[in-house]
Amino acid sequence: MRRIAVLASGRGSNLQALIDAIAAGRLAAEVVGVFSDRAGAGALERARAAGIAAVSLRPRDFDSRPAFDEALFSRIDGVQPDLIVCAGYMRLLSEHVVEARAGRMINIHPSLLPAFKGLHTHQQALDAGATEHGASVHFVTAELDGGPVIAQARVPVLPGDDAARLAERVLAREHPLLLATVGALVEGRVRLLAGRVADRGRPLAAPLQL
Ligand code: GAR
Repeated sequence: MRRIAVLASGRGSNLQALIDAIAAGRLAAEVVGVFSDRAGAGALERARAAGIAAVSLRPRDFDSRPAFDEALFSRIDGVQPDLIVCAGYMRLLSEHVVEARAGRMINIHPSLLPAFKGLHTHQQALDAGATEHGASVHFVTAELDGGPVIAQARVPVLPGDDAARLAERVLAREHPLLLATVGALVEGRVRLLAGRVADRGRPLAAPLQL
């Protein structure tokens, strides 16, 4: 699993963490393309600055979600990735593209799944009075933020936190979490086995805590 394609809609700090770790020799992989649904995504700029192919398609140029996904994923298939990383990709994916890539596509989500799926996760955590929050990396399935969780990183919710402060604390842990998880996948240590996360061939009883 050396060839990585990244999907991103936004600023791309998780992408940058991957690029930097690879450049520093801390991750034995290659980012072979960055793909976006937003032409102005910072992630595309970061890719170009690193000499990585950067592709964006506009959803409004397509009749339907499946048609958009078909076009985007045919571009992704063109770079022959072993692993597809959703790093701040904010569009729902259609079932057919996800199911065809089971075990080869992961997503980083800013909550301790299964808690707080969807958007505005930091505000959701504050509103629920959570004392602990964090981030998860999971295999992507057709269910939104619902695939098997590989690894998580936890942070405390502190008195006086607002969504922005909490997001910052979580993001600082997202980067090492993503790197460690991608590392384990690249090495073939972790994989999806019969619908569950397996570590060295053994199903995990609970997500890895990083
Ligand atoms: C990250 O916090 C990531 O977990 C989140 O978007 C941010 C992207 O930041 N993803 C989601 O909310 C997916 N549902 P980045 O563009 O700086 O990597």
